[in-house]
Amino acid sequence: EVGSAVVISQCSYRTDSTSNLSPSILKLLDRRLYAQRDHPIAITRKLIESVFTQPTFQHYIASNPVVSTAANFDALGFPADHPGRSTTDSYYVNKDHVLRTHTSAYQHAAFQAMKQKHETPYGYTICADVFRRDSIDRSHFPVFHQMEGARLWRHSKTDSQGFPISYYQGYLRRMEIIRQSLGELARPPVDVDDPNPHFHEVRNPKQPTHQHQEIRLVASHLKRTLELLVAKVFDAAKQAAIASGHLDANGAQEPLKVRWVEAYFPFTSPSYELEVHWQGEWLELLGCGVVQQALLDDAGVGDRIGWAWGIGIERLAMILFGIPDIRLFWSEDPRFLNQFRAGQITRFEPFSKYPACYKDVAFWIGSSAAAAAAAAASPPAEEHHHKTLGDTGSDPGLAAAAGGNSTHAAAAPTETQPTAFHENDVMEIVRDVAGSLVEDVKLVDEFVHPTSGRKSLCYRINYRSLERTLTNEETNWLHREVARRLVADLGVELR
Ligand code: PHE
Repeated sequence: EVGSAVVISQCSYRTDSTSNLSPSILKLLDRRLYAQRDHPIAITRKLIESVFTQPTFQHYIASNPVVSTAANFDALGFPADHPGRSTTDSYYVNKDHVLRTHTSAYQHAAFQAMKQKHETPYGYTICADVFRRDSIDRSHFPVFHQMEGARLWRHSKTDSQGFPISYYQGYLRRMEIIRQSLGELARPPVDVDDPNPHFHEVRNPKQPTHQHQEIRLVASHLKRTLELLVAKVFDAAKQAAIASGHLDANGAQEPLKVRWVEAYFPFTSPSYELEVHWQGEWLELLGCGVVQQALLDDAGVGDRIGWAWGIGIERLAMILFGIPDIRLFWSEDPRFLNQFRAGQITRFEPFSKYPACYKDVAFWIGSSAAAAAAAAASPPAEEHHHKTLGDTGSDPGLAAAAGGNSTHAAAAPTETQPTAFHENDVMEIVRDVAGSLVEDVKLVDEFVHPTSGRKSLCYRINYRSLERTLTNEETNWLHREVARRLVADLGVELR
């Protein structure tokens, strides 16, 4: 309710007309899956941390999920009209605070903290749960986990013997140190395809203050580091798959194939995505790049240069453990939880699958007058939030059944068009009513009435529990409640 207080992690926030937290989200804030020793999320976090060793790297966990919009968007250079900022894509506590949509929300503060630290540590990893409103399928859940890492090298004030040097020499010395760091990295046992240059004037530019040579070194160090990460993680996955008979020893002989793809993030340039070839498919695994100098300047560490990366943990854990449905991570069923042990990658043994229950709901959106106006004013379908934020948290490629719902999201931010219909609002209602009893929601039919101009949509909801068979009464009740909320909250007219 507008003007009331909501308490999260012992802090109280006043809600306003921007607030869109749902009770189902609030219930998930205290689970701390990343901290439960034997949970696959925690095991995966530890495995990633093990590649980034101390004292160079410090490992952090961010427990309070609320961050300022300044930290989540502004400091990172998100433009004012970025779809990630809209209330249809993100959870707003109030107009100045969101549930973090990515771990990059800590970059500014982390870099600022590094100012006090003179020599080591120069790097960190941070793990947190992150929140995005999105479609519903076996690879999307409104809360998921990310891990981020960054490493900076600073401009030297002294030479290798400790004698003071000029600014220019200090800059050359920084480059020397990066070259040394690169030399210390092992060559990962993976087959790397990197068809594009490290930077490209138009497609993936180097920042104006950066020197070619230095960017080549930083980019090589970044890529090599992440290839090592992937080599280690996928070797663990391979061993688990062989041990359980999911992969024969021949298949395991082949080296892992990875490829680098140019990418865009507002806070890095040049930027890349790393894809991994796994069980016949290219999977987009992580986003990364050279940190924007403006961000470092802003944090008071303008004498440094460095890289950052971010990875979605669920996607990786689904591959590592062979977990077929993202909802399982939230399960408290011992048949799930008892399968995992800290420090071990083991293959998930599915317990019996319970029956699916499909139900359709069809409705008209908008009045005919509003429909005509909206049709005239509606912007072309924008790129989806996940794409532009860097889709590190979805579609592990395992969920073959995953519908392409997100492409229907003609993302009209609710700020500018408060009455505009957005698919994510339907998803949110279904989540709120059915929680983890819903497996996926797909748009199965869509048409515009030839004379009234009104649009009709039909969604097919698959109700299925991971833990038991749902009764008819239960699914009927859930479905009726979904329909009621669609009318009450979105003002649609049922067909
Ligand atoms: N924060 C980005 C995302 O959520 C990933 C990223 C992190 C990209 C760090 C570059 C550097 O997709």
